[in-house]
Amino acid sequence: MAAGEVLLDVQGVGLTLGGNAILRDCSFQVVDRVRQGVVTGQIVALLGPSGVGKTRLLRIIAGLDPPDVGRVTGYKGAPLLEGEVGVVFQHYPLLRHRRVLGNLETAGRMNGMGAAEARSRAAHLLERFGLTARAQLYPAQLSGGQRQRAAIAQQLMKPKSFLLLDEPFSGLDPSALGDVIKLLVEVANMDELNTLVIVTHDIEAAVVCSDAVMLLGREPNALGKGVGPAKIQRSVDLVAEGLAYQDDVEQLPRFAELVRDLKDGFRRL
Ligand SMILES: Nc1ncnc2c1ncn2[C@@H]1O[C@H](COP(=O)(O)OP(=O)(O)OP(=O)(O)O)[C@@H](O)[C@H]1O
Ligand SMILES: [Mg+2]
Repeated sequence: MAAGEVLLDVQGVGLTLGGNAILRDCSFQVVDRVRQGVVTGQIVALLGPSGVGKTRLLRIIAGLDPPDVGRVTGYKGAPLLEGEVGVVFQHYPLLRHRRVLGNLETAGRMNGMGAAEARSRAAHLLERFGLTARAQLYPAQLSGGQRQRAAIAQQLMKPKSFLLLDEPFSGLDPSALGDVIKLLVEVANMDELNTLVIVTHDIEAAVVCSDAVMLLGREPNALGKGVGPAKIQRSVDLVAEGLAYQDDVEQLPRFAELVRDLKDGFRRL
């Protein structure tokens, strides 16, 4: 396993909102994972307590909000381009007045696809996400988990180098969760330089699908309670841990150990 170039560099990001320091000195890098003979994209999970600033950080990485200080760059230090980054928001932004199929087709058309190409890719993705029977329903007629899958499918209409997902695992039953994880791994591995950043509260799912996990948290005070602005408090390289790129990784003793350890660390943030 070799490490290649830096694909995403979050450098000293700070953010204050309404007079409150939310993020300070928040830095991390995603480096190209290189495995001989295998196309290996990158999946990084961002964990952290509710309200700590995960969504805000994701928006800064996506270029939707500017940070007060710091910067975010991509491959070879260049800024991330708008068309390069797909985002699946925490509250799935499907168009309410379009059916599921129409939502996907619209995303394809907005990304420059012809009608026939958009329709066939949309149909293919709906099939992959188990939503073919729901293609003609409106978003309000879907369950939360179905909406989640439709929103991810929508972002996959146009392959992008960066896909940022805010809570993609919430509201999924165990079987749908397994399917979405498999799909995200597949999406990541479609191109050597692809990078997925997944914000989640599901620590097990994060360790199953990622090659690195980061904990975003506040500094604990004397009473062990997190206070002040948040930064990356801990980063775990799952490749070095021997927990990346394996089927049934959940069966390994180290998996359970690390999950326990992360949960412990989480409680102190
Ligand atoms: N406009 C604003 N003015 C002041 N504070 C804000 C504003 N917007 C967000 N915040 C605060 O910023 C913090 C970070 O919010 P963010 O949505 O990033 O949290 P999160 O980590 O994604 O939480 P969750 O896991 O619940 O989604 C929160 O404590 C929130 O109250
Ligand atoms: Mg959030």
